[in-house]
This record gives sequence, C-alpha cells and structure tokens, in this order.
Amino acid sequence: MAQVAERGLVTVDGLVSRAAVRAFARRIMALTPHPDSDRDGLTTIQNIGAPSRQPGMAGLGTGELVAHTERSSIPRPPQLMLLVCLRPAASGGEVRLTDGRAVTEHLAALAPEALEAMALRGTAYYGDGGGHPSQVFTPGSNGRTLLRFRQDELSRFSPLVDRYLPALREAIAVHQQTARLTAGQGYLLDNTRFLHARTAFTGDRLCLRALGEPLTPAPAGIPALRS
Ligand SMILES: [Fe+2]
Repeated sequence: MAQVAERGLVTVDGLVSRAAVRAFARRIMALTPHPDSDRDGLTTIQNIGAPSRQPGMAGLGTGELVAHTERSSIPRPPQLMLLVCLRPAASGGEVRLTDGRAVTEHLAALAPEALEAMALRGTAYYGDGGGHPSQVFTPGSNGRTLLRFRQDELSRFSPLVDRYLPALREAIAVHQQTARLTAGQGYLLDNTRFLHARTAFTGDRLCLRALGEPLTPAPAGIPALRS
C-alpha cells in the first residue's frame, strides 16, 4: 500500500488461481461489489459475446478499451483496482496503463488552461441517462488530485472541456505504458490516479478483477505537482 500511495501502481505475479487472487485481494482491500461480480466479490473478465455490446459492457467483449477510470459511472469510484490474468489471449489483449501524474505534468507544461478547465465543477457527466455531474480533476486530500475519466457512451462533457479533450488524449497516449500479462501476472492500482486500457484480442483471454477500498488507509489520487 505504501507503493500504491507513492507510485500509484504495484505489479503482481504468481497469482495463478482464483483462490490466490481472492486471498491477495482480501488482504489489501474491502471488496466493493460490482453488478457483474461473482459471489466471491471478484469479476470474471472474459468474452461473453453479444451482451457485451450494451453500453458500459465493452469490458466483457474482445474489443479495444480506451483509457478509463473503473466505475466512473457511479458517484464515487473505488480507490483500488486489482486485475490479474489467469489465461492470456491468443493475440492482443495487452494492458495499457497511464499515470495521471505524468498526464497532469504534461498538461501543466503544455496546456495549463486545459488542466484548469477540466477541474471546473460539473463539466463532465458520467453514467446512464443524464448521468451525474462530475469533472476530470477533483481536489482530494493531502493536496492530491483525483482523476476520473472515461470515453465511452457513458460520458459527456461540457463545451468548456470538450475543446481540451484532444490535448488530454494526446497526453494519455504519450505516457501510456503497454504490458503483456502472462498467467498469474497483474497489477494493483490507485483507480483515482491511473487510467487503464486494453487492446483488442483473439482467443480465450481470462482475467479476474477486484475493486475496493484499502484496509490500510492510503492517500488517494495524484500527488501535488513539484513547483
Ligand atoms: Fe476497466
């Protein structure tokens, strides 16, 4: 948890069974149920076919998922997300992770007005129907900033922010890191700091996901920028 608080991300390895993933997850977080999670609190991420074409369900298909915050469709997304690969794809299915710290440093240097606009209250709408008002950057505790972003049909943005989305996407693309997970490998991240994504895949890729709040409280979000 110290590393998650400092760097926002920890990689894990050797979690080759559902029981191992569950045991690890329960050591570090109070699991938050998800509509798609199973009775043990973990969500099985695999291709379910046609139902994955419904809004917000793309994670259970085979297509690319662009950078997003997990559960940004609800008012308060979970702080922690653990994703472990139990069976890699035949091709593709790499994970792409972006540190919000790098994104904010990038924007602070190249487009500070974008950072300011995306911190304006109520300039993003996340969720079904009208969604609920939020914003890309929200003040957190300890001088930190909570990042919250999605780019699918469950997101809409005010014109004040719309014009800066290309700059934000550019910053995400520049700082995105790609990893191919083998069986038992995964990551634990601060979901209020890191964005995650995945490339399209073929084959019978199987991952497990846990969402929750840390058992040992840790500061959430992007640390204050060095001035
Ligand atoms: Fe996700």
